[in-house]
Amino acid sequence: MGKNIINNKDYWDKFYLDFNETLESDFARFCSDRISGLSDCVIVELGCGNGRDSKYFHSLNIPLFSFDLSEVAIDKLQKLGLKNATFIVCDFKDVNSLSVKLNDVTKNKIKVFYSRFTMHCVNENVENKLLTWLFENMTEDDYFFIESRTEFDELYGQGVAFDGGFITSHYRRFINQENFKNKVLNMGFKIEYEAFSKGLAIKGNEDPKLMRFVLRR
Ligand SMILES: C[S@@+](CC[C@H](N)C(=O)[O-])C[C@H]1O[C@@H](n2cnc3c(N)ncnc32)[C@H](O)[C@@H]1O
Repeated sequence: MGKNIINNKDYWDKFYLDFNETLESDFARFCSDRISGLSDCVIVELGCGNGRDSKYFHSLNIPLFSFDLSEVAIDKLQKLGLKNATFIVCDFKDVNSLSVKLNDVTKNKIKVFYSRFTMHCVNENVENKLLTWLFENMTEDDYFFIESRTEFDELYGQGVAFDGGFITSHYRRFINQENFKNKVLNMGFKIEYEAFSKGLAIKGNEDPKLMRFVLRR
């Protein structure tokens, strides 16, 4: 197996050289609808990619603290010079290194953590690290919005089995929605909203059955 297909960073850096989607996702609109009544909040995007959703939240005058593994994607976003927006290169496995900076940026604001199609990009150890970091950095005022692929996905089983997931052009770990739900409940999160459905992120012929959660502490 070649280095390129198992190295997430190489894959995503190459991907963002010419990925220019500008339309925000359905999940970003879902999130903005639900937080529209909050007076002072900041979006903390975990895995912002080319910033299609971060830029949408910014257009609604919501401050941003967004990070991603891909230097290519983050470099492009930093060059936009957006006000009230921080873009940082960070691998989820090193997320603890962000805590001080996060507290500086989000002081006295409601934190809206937002993860779209990113949790299935990492193995379960990294997922556990991220969830622990989120729980430690959330207060009762904060939110965690997550949307992810699940085991009920047409792509499930395609490619080479590796580290709890499958590698095709890149690594995907299809999440078992019930296991995820039990895990977050055991950690102490509260579930404010959940969905497990098709029709949430239709793209061309693809209509994967996704899980969505809004979690609180
Ligand atoms: C499917 S894309 C989704 C991007 C964006 N959230 C969207 O919906 O357009 C997955 C993103 O996760 C990022 N990613 C993958 N592994 C990561 C890791 N270990 N740490 C941080 N980001 C990672 C990738 O760089 C990529 O931007």
